[in-house]
Amino acid sequence: VSSYPSHISLLPSIQQCNLSNLPENYFLKYYIYHALTWPQLSFVAVVRGPGSKPPKYPKVVGYVLAKMEEDPPDGVQHGHITSLSVMRTHRRLGIAEKLMRMSQRAMAEVFNAEYVSLHVRMSNTAALHLYRDTLRFEVEKVESKYYGDGEDAYAMRMDLRPLQ
Ligand code: ACO
Repeated sequence: VSSYPSHISLLPSIQQCNLSNLPENYFLKYYIYHALTWPQLSFVAVVRGPGSKPPKYPKVVGYVLAKMEEDPPDGVQHGHITSLSVMRTHRRLGIAEKLMRMSQRAMAEVFNAEYVSLHVRMSNTAALHLYRDTLRFEVEKVESKYYGDGEDAYAMRMDLRPLQ
């Protein structure tokens, strides 16, 4: 498995990966918008074939879809994780951590982001462990009924200034 910057031809496979793993789904044009506007920030994990050359149609097993906040209410330049997921067959291998760290580094280095934000379901134990314990995000606040089914979200953020 290796992480590539997400190429436009892989976007439908990324969309499929999202549909398999999360109830929050997006139109293809939203993926294209991310890839065209902030091409440095989204990454994909693919399974390589046995050869040394990248396969023609690599199998997507994970992705991070990320952006810069376009009109930050606090006036502070910051990034946002729109969506992250890894296929069940490839979990607990460090893929999500790697995708997140690559995106965070690019946010700081390319766009001078001071911090990165995201929302996560309060019941999502695996993702909460990843964000809070592994990556050291902090809970900023609880957003009541953030999700379509009425579940609350933790709004989390992590300081990126040490990476700038
Ligand atoms: N239980 C507890 N902790 C976990 C779990 C789990 N099932 N999975 C990951 N973690 C934590 C651990 O701290 C782990 O470190 P360790 O393995 O050294 O103990 C750390 O996360 C890193 O794990 P990775 O292997 O990098 O995580 P993985 O590649 O398995 O992906 C993810 C984690 C993305 C949460 C995956 O389980 C998934 O796709 N879940 C469904 C989709 C989802 O919930 N996405 C996040 C939604 S929030 C958003 O998109 C902004």
